[in-house]
Amino acid sequence: MNLVVSNVKGGVGKTTSTIYLAAAAAERGYDPVVLVDADRQASSAEWFEARPIEGVAVVEAPSERTVAKAMERHDGLGVVDTPPGDERIVRAALERASAIVIPTRAGGVEFSRVVATLEMVPAGVPAGVVVCAARLGTHDLDQTVQWWEGQRVPVWGIVPERVSIAAGPEGRISREGLDLYGEILTRALRRRARG
Ligand SMILES: Nc1ncnc2c1ncn2[C@@H]1O[C@H](COP(=O)(O)OP(=O)(O)OP(=O)(O)O)[C@@H](O)[C@H]1O
Ligand SMILES: [Mg+2]
Repeated sequence: MNLVVSNVKGGVGKTTSTIYLAAAAAERGYDPVVLVDADRQASSAEWFEARPIEGVAVVEAPSERTVAKAMERHDGLGVVDTPPGDERIVRAALERASAIVIPTRAGGVEFSRVVATLEMVPAGVPAGVVVCAARLGTHDLDQTVQWWEGQRVPVWGIVPERVSIAAGPEGRISREGLDLYGEILTRALRRRARG
């Protein structure tokens, strides 16, 4: 199985979500968990080097060919970080996805980028939105969630803005983050488990 984390927009929380989803998967007993870093920037791989996660192996795969191989060559759970541009690499990853997590932010300007990402999702592959760095109780957040519900795009999670999560590899993985992303993982893989 491969969970692909993707949004054509940059800086929305793809790498952060990938790291937390991989850590939550290892904690929940997926074995092996392979973090596939398809972004040339290698932010996930660098994060992982600074702070290795028990039970997670990282594979750098910044090309169509290497990402395809990395996703096909394991018999556990792959969690794939994708670049914001590089449409060919993104498509190579999405084509092989069991489920697709689309990190986004609250606010109307973000919708079109998610829609552009959704348009690349192969038919029949479950995809859901995760609102990252969310400000709870704000009108923007409520409107964003309502908008996705209206579009019949599932919201798999809302991750609040947290200093501990923003710290990235400078800090430890946060307990709250692990729990939230663990729930997102369950939602993303649920439909798969039922067939
Ligand atoms: N829940 C959160 N709380 C606070 N900050 C967050 C949260 N999630 C993500 N961020 C911050 O948002 C910024 C962008 O996150 P991240 O690097 O994961 O995005 P990205 O989509 O991978 O970016 P790129 O497109 O450049 O690869 C980072 O500074 C990160 O720390
Ligand atoms: Mg990134």
